[in-house]
Parts: sequence; C-alpha cells; structure tokens
Amino acid sequence: MNTTAFAARIPGYLDVFETQLKERLVATPGIDTQLKEAMHYSVFNGGKRLRPLLVFAAAEAIGIEAQTVLAPACAVELIHCYSLVHDDLPAMDDDDLRRGRPTTHLAFDEATAILVGDALQALAYQLLAEDPLSTTHPAGILKILQELTDACGADGMAGGQAWDLQLEKQTPNQDTLEHMFAMKTGALIRASALMPCLLMDDLSVEALQALRAFGDDVGLAFQIRDDLLDVEGESEVIGKPTGSDAAKQKATWPGLFGIKEAKDRIVVLHDRAMSALEQAKPELKGDVRGLQWLANQLTQRDH
Ligand code: IPE
Ligand code: IPE
Ligand code: MG
Ligand code: MG
Ligand code: MG
Repeated sequence: MNTTAFAARIPGYLDVFETQLKERLVATPGIDTQLKEAMHYSVFNGGKRLRPLLVFAAAEAIGIEAQTVLAPACAVELIHCYSLVHDDLPAMDDDDLRRGRPTTHLAFDEATAILVGDALQALAYQLLAEDPLSTTHPAGILKILQELTDACGADGMAGGQAWDLQLEKQTPNQDTLEHMFAMKTGALIRASALMPCLLMDDLSVEALQALRAFGDDVGLAFQIRDDLLDVEGESEVIGKPTGSDAAKQKATWPGLFGIKEAKDRIVVLHDRAMSALEQAKPELKGDVRGLQWLANQLTQRDH
C-alpha cells in the first residue's frame, strides 16, 4: 500500500490529467478556431479539478491505476466546465467573473459560450467512447456512462439548474432546497466518486449504496460551502463575484436558514459521509484515505 499522503500525489495526477485534456482540446487549423479557442479558455483557467481528483482518489480506494480512469476523470471535468459556462450566462446567473477571469460569454460572446457547453459535453462522451475500457471492460464503461448521463441530465445537474432558477425569490423548505442542491451539484460529485467503483464486478449493492451516500453528502456539503463563500468569501480568493446570490435573490442555504446553521449542517453531512465510507470500506481493496482527505477539503474549502 502507498504510504505517501494523497496530497503529495496530486501534482502527479494533475500533470497526467492536464496533458490528456490539452491533447484533446488542440485547435484544428482552419476549422472553427474561435470555438476551439473558447473551449480552451473555459477549461484551462485555474479550476480546482476537484471532481477528477475524486475520481483518482476513488481509484485508489478500490486499488486500480489512475490511468484506468483517466477518461472518466476528463469527462466529468469537461461536463463541469460546460456547466459553469452556461451557469454564468445572462439567462442564468449573469456573472462576469469565473476562476479569476472574465466569463466565457464576455471574453467571446453568448452564442460562442452556448456552443462551448454543447461541444464540451460532446467531447466528454467522445473520450469515454474512445477509451480502451470500452473494449476491455464494456460492461463497466456502460455503467459509467449511465451514471454520468444520469448525473448531468434532467434528473441531475441540468434539472437542478432549472430548479435553481425557479426557486429565485422563493423560500423553499430545507428538504426542497437540499434536493435541488443534490441535483445541480451533488450528482456530478457523486458520479466522480462512484465511477471507478462501477468497474468492480464484485461490489455488493450495500457497499455501492454506501458509496452513493458518501458522494451525496459530500456534494450537498460542497454546495452549502459554495453558498457560504458567496457571503463570506473574497472575490480575489474564490475567483468569482461575492454577493452574486443575494443580488439574484437566489435560494441559498445560509440565506434561508442562517450562516451558523449552514456551518453546522456541513459538519453533520461531513460526518455522515465518513460513516458511509466506513461502511463500504471492508469491500474496497485499496486505500480510502485519499477519499477521506478530499471529502474534508471539499467541505472546508476557502475557494
Ligand atoms: C463551482 O464548482 C460550482 C459549483 C458546483 C458550486 P468548483 O468550486 O469545483 O469550481 P472550479 O472548478 O474549482 O472552478
Ligand atoms: C452551481 O451553483 C452551479 C452549477 C451546477 C454549474 P452556483 O451557481 O452557486 O455556482 P457558482 O457559485 O456560480 O460557481
Ligand atoms: Mg447557478
Ligand atoms: Mg452561478
Ligand atoms: Mg455559488
């Protein structure tokens, strides 16, 4: 077992990850150069890469090589980047700053930003379809596709984003708000932690359920933390505007139920996630410490 801390392996993981993504986003000379340039702008701009890191940590937890899950790691980040480009559009959150730079629709134009989202999503699935796993482990890759499409469709991120817009100026109860968070943000985080595990053929239904619960709780806590950062964070640190949620009269966790209560809720969700992981642990053949460490980072982050 690798005794070095997960944090020490992050630069190595990200090096391989960024190289692979860059290869796939090189502009094709003469064809749609503006779209390719805008895709590049929207992907290589200082994102924390937390979702791919979750994929790599989950690979460690089940004892498989990071290389095996490189395509799922790239796919989930591409979908996440697309969701941010669309989230910032005037028709949605109408924000001007993302990852410390002008949002894609301002750096280019709205039509380009819409098309960047379309093309990044297509590229995500292209990477999965072209991955050697589709020949070596076709059943596994199908399960991964199912998980990822569920996570980003009408019952996942896209549906959650629609619900987020509907809830502007509303005062939903905690269950409703958290259901919306689970869809818009939690689903992709859960998919990140789950995808490598779907390559294991002998995982019990109970262990899979526990891993789902882990991803759900971390994802929910992650969005509550994001809402807190919009209130308490500094724009230079978070790389996006602060006060944006209040300006849009968004339904947020701290806005509806209080700042201290939001922090307490994060602690509860984090602890519940850890217990869920403990439940799955006996069946995982690798080292879960990376997942434990990342769950902590995701829920306590300051940017
Ligand atoms: C921000 O996600 C959007 C939410 C789902 C809350 P991240 O905080 O992971 O954003 P990047 O990728 O680091 O920019
Ligand atoms: C989550 O919510 C965004 C997505 C699911 C894309 P936010 O709208 O709060 O995300 P930020 O704060 O703009 O990054
Ligand atoms: Mg939003
Ligand atoms: Mg937003
Ligand atoms: Mg936010």
